[in-house]
Amino acid sequence: MPDGSRELLLSRIQDVPDYPKPGVMFKDITPLLADGKAFSVLTDALTEICREQDAQKVVGLEARGFILGAPVAVRAGIGFVPVRKAGKLPGGTLGQAYDLEYGTAEIEIHADALQPGDRVLVIDDVLATGGTAEASVQLIRRAGGTVTGLAVLLELGFLAGRTRVERALDGAPLAAL
Ligand code: PRP
Repeated sequence: MPDGSRELLLSRIQDVPDYPKPGVMFKDITPLLADGKAFSVLTDALTEICREQDAQKVVGLEARGFILGAPVAVRAGIGFVPVRKAGKLPGGTLGQAYDLEYGTAEIEIHADALQPGDRVLVIDDVLATGGTAEASVQLIRRAGGTVTGLAVLLELGFLAGRTRVERALDGAPLAAL
């Protein structure tokens, strides 16, 4: 990224204490999205990763991965595929369950969204425990895709999601801007 980009992006991410529940510090990216320069710098950086990996599809993870991933797909001239929370996609789906702190969650992809061997870059806003990203990598592979890498804006290092996701990525790069 050009000099000063990292500082610009960080300056547009707002810490919101006790959201969505007490004790959690929420990283709000809406100020970044509202700043045309910062959003463009972020999109450029993610698009560069997309081109380096020669990806053929961007997969965005609900919900903020949609906002970050869609303009990258447009700039790279490739398609965008959503991974959604269970029950939101209208067509035939493949699902992948994963553990939360309490209970489980499930994400889905349209079963026909990827061609066999499609090279896929996964984009999301935040890597926390890594559960969502790990499940997405597994889901994309089951849908026939080849995951070229995962790119996120923010990595919450203290939650150690990287170890979990790197294991799932099996040598593909994890980029945290
Ligand atoms: C957040 C974030 C990532 C995920 C990271 O999404 O946008 O997708 O959690 O957490 P993990 O690494 O612990 O899995 P959230 O589940 O809040 O969904 P939303 O974007 O639809 O609000």
